[in-house]
Amino acid sequence: MNFKHIPAHVAIIMDGNGRWAKKRGQPRSYGHYRGGRNLFKVATIANELGIKKLSLFAFSTENWKRPQAEIDYLFQIPIEFYEKQKDKFKTMGYQIVFSGRRDRLPKKLLDVMVEIEKTTSSFRGFVLNICVDYGSYDELITAFNQLTPPITIADLENHLMIKEPVDLLIRTSGEQRLSNFLLWQASYAEFYFTKIHWPSFGKRQLKMAIRSYQKRQRRYGGLA
Ligand code: IPE
Ligand code: IPE
Ligand code: MG
Repeated sequence: MNFKHIPAHVAIIMDGNGRWAKKRGQPRSYGHYRGGRNLFKVATIANELGIKKLSLFAFSTENWKRPQAEIDYLFQIPIEFYEKQKDKFKTMGYQIVFSGRRDRLPKKLLDVMVEIEKTTSSFRGFVLNICVDYGSYDELITAFNQLTPPITIADLENHLMIKEPVDLLIRTSGEQRLSNFLLWQASYAEFYFTKIHWPSFGKRQLKMAIRSYQKRQRRYGGLA
C-alpha cells in the first residue's frame, strides 16, 4: 500500500449484519451489536491509515420499513454504547459528526448524538461521519427547496449535508448497489465491493480496498 496516495474521503455501506448473525445461528440483533462495535474499530484503522473523512451508512431513510423491534434495537445500541463508554469519547482524538434527518429520531438517541458531537468537536484531523436517517433523495430535495433558481453546482453543494466528494466507496456483504447513499457525492467515486459481512470487515479488508483504489486511474471524463 502506498501511504502517499490514500483516498481522502472513504464511504462505507455497512451491510450484512443480519446475514453475519444468521450464519452463526444468532438473532439479527446480535449482528447489529457486533456491527456497531466494528464501526469504531474501523474508524480507528481509517484514522491510522491517513484517511481524512470516513462516512458510514448506519441507518437509511428506507430502513424505517423494517420491523419496529429491529429499529428500536438499532437505536438502542449507540445509547448503551455511549452510556458505558462516555469517557472514551473525551480522549477519542478525532471528531465525530452525524448526517441525516433529525426530526424523526427518538429524543434519547438525538441527545446522545449531540453529546458525542459536542464532546469531540474540538478534535482536528480525521472526521468520522455517521449517517443516520440519511438518504440522498431527502438530502437533495431538502437542498433544492432551500434554493431559488437559477442555481449552480456550488450553490447546491453548499446546501448538502455532506460536502466533500467521495474518493472510495465500499459496500460489504456482496450487494452491488448504492441504496440511496451519497448519490451526488459519489459521482466520481471508485467503487469497491466485498462479500465480507460488515461485522467481519477489518484492517485487512480496508487495506485491500485501498490497494485496489490505488491501481485505478481516475479520469473524470478526460484522457489519461
Ligand atoms: C446493515 O445490515 C445494517 C443496517 C442496514 C441497519 P443489514 O441489517 O442490512 O443486514 P442484512 O443485509 O440483512 O444481512
Ligand atoms: C443499506 O443497506 C443501508 C445501510 C447499510 C444503513 P440495506 O440493507 O438497507 O440496503 P438494501 O435494502 O439491501 O438495498
Ligand atoms: Mg442489508
